Amino acid sequence: MPLITSTSAPESSPVRTREELQDLVRERVGGRLFVSVSNREPFVHSRGADGSVQVRAAVGGLTLALNSAMRAVGGVWVAHGSGDADREGADERGRLRVPPGDPAYVLQRVWLGRAEHDGYYNGFANQALWPLCHTAYTKPVFRNAHWDAYRSVNAKFADAVSEVVGDREAIVFIQDYHFGLLPAMVRARCPRAICLHFWHIPWPLADIFSICPWAGELLDGLLGNDVLGVHTPQYAQRFLEAARTRPGWKLADDRTLENGERRTLVREFPISVDFDAISASASSAECDAAVERLRERYGLAGKFVVLGLDRIDYTKGVLERLEAIECLLERHPAMRGRLAYLHAGAPSRTDIPTYRALHNAMDRAEARINGKYATAEANPVVTIKRHLHVSEVMALYRLADVCVVSSLEDGMNLVAKEFLAARDDGGGRLLLSEFTGAAWELREAETFNPFATDEFADRLFAMSRAGTALDSERMQRLRAQVRANNIYGWIGKILETVPPRRDGN
Ligand code: F6P
Repeated sequence: MPLITSTSAPESSPVRTREELQDLVRERVGGRLFVSVSNREPFVHSRGADGSVQVRAAVGGLTLALNSAMRAVGGVWVAHGSGDADREGADERGRLRVPPGDPAYVLQRVWLGRAEHDGYYNGFANQALWPLCHTAYTKPVFRNAHWDAYRSVNAKFADAVSEVVGDREAIVFIQDYHFGLLPAMVRARCPRAICLHFWHIPWPLADIFSICPWAGELLDGLLGNDVLGVHTPQYAQRFLEAARTRPGWKLADDRTLENGERRTLVREFPISVDFDAISASASSAECDAAVERLRERYGLAGKFVVLGLDRIDYTKGVLERLEAIECLLERHPAMRGRLAYLHAGAPSRTDIPTYRALHNAMDRAEARINGKYATAEANPVVTIKRHLHVSEVMALYRLADVCVVSSLEDGMNLVAKEFLAARDDGGGRLLLSEFTGAAWELREAETFNPFATDEFADRLFAMSRAGTALDSERMQRLRAQVRANNIYGWIGKILETVPPRRDGN
């Protein structure tokens, strides 16, 4: 049976608004309970310096996107309660209604001890699976203790889901590589649940995946899903290649695996953003004022501003970007004093040695570049290493001449889509790594190879010359594509795979 060969960009979803999604939910979810599961929670309670408890929205791409969807769908979101005041913000069962002030669904927090979190999140998820699935040349670490913690935390989440679901009909929507074993565990505990799972990172080539000592167990866990979604057809094809070798399983068609009565559909559902919400917030007067504040604070007036905005992670090509900036300043003296490179992003996973080494390498590169090329007025490299408020993110998008997404490999990359959504002013250009799901989907985007430092520097230099009408027309077409394929369409297409309930309720 041939596997998927088409790599054409996906068709647009008919669902474009929250209201249209709600109509689809009525049809497909009906009276079933909708339960999402992710590691990160959408709202975090933390204790301020004055002792007061504050709640803030998490700003990661996944949580922002899923929060928009959950507000439309309703139901329960099960996630790790990671805030230092999370227990105070929830009831005795770890539950609270969110978003704060405008509640639309229930957040069910799951409590993890330090050792559990270390083994499951810092260990197996982020030192084994993360480097295994990304082609970023960081060696995965496989330790028995990490695997044991991953398995027991997956079981803990399965218990939490089954407590929420009971014996009801439900749709359980699982997120990401933290939960490779969860689908089969949920299926065993909740026989009336339909399991949908979205794997937000790349799926590696079969030979690479096979180096994982627990590759078979992970595949069996994921085959507990009714639907497994990935960003691109290529990732779907790789999963099908690997999973068709599991005992009892075979291909039923080019997207479905079957084992007796059991079937698992594996296909692409490219994730997206809440286009209208981003567009509106980026064109507000408040955002204009924030742009002016940032320009003044970092001395950006009259500069060619290159923006890199990502969680500090080696897969994002953050060091490669600094190397390209250094190369640009070295080769094009006219750019000295004219270029401002802003790298803004939140640190994450800093308990992991590879991430600490990355921070040190970035600091050294920044000091070296600024040491060589600073002028009396400003440094060419400015790093903002902290969690940014959504309004700051919007302002950064608005003031950039070029937004560079330099991922060495990335399942999708929502920064690219957010940037497009934020630029309704006709300005700004996107320079996008060819190794992202976004480059597969946004065929008209200007793409490049982040591993090729000299070419990367030359592309930035070429872009430092004034943009043309053609560039802004291209931006408009890319924006239109993201508008037509937004977050509601993403979840809509996933829900369309669910058969309506027989009684229609
Ligand atoms: O890119 C994959 C992903 O899991 C996203 O879905 C998510 O936003 C991010 O990585 C998670 O990062 P962290 O480990 O900081 O939660």
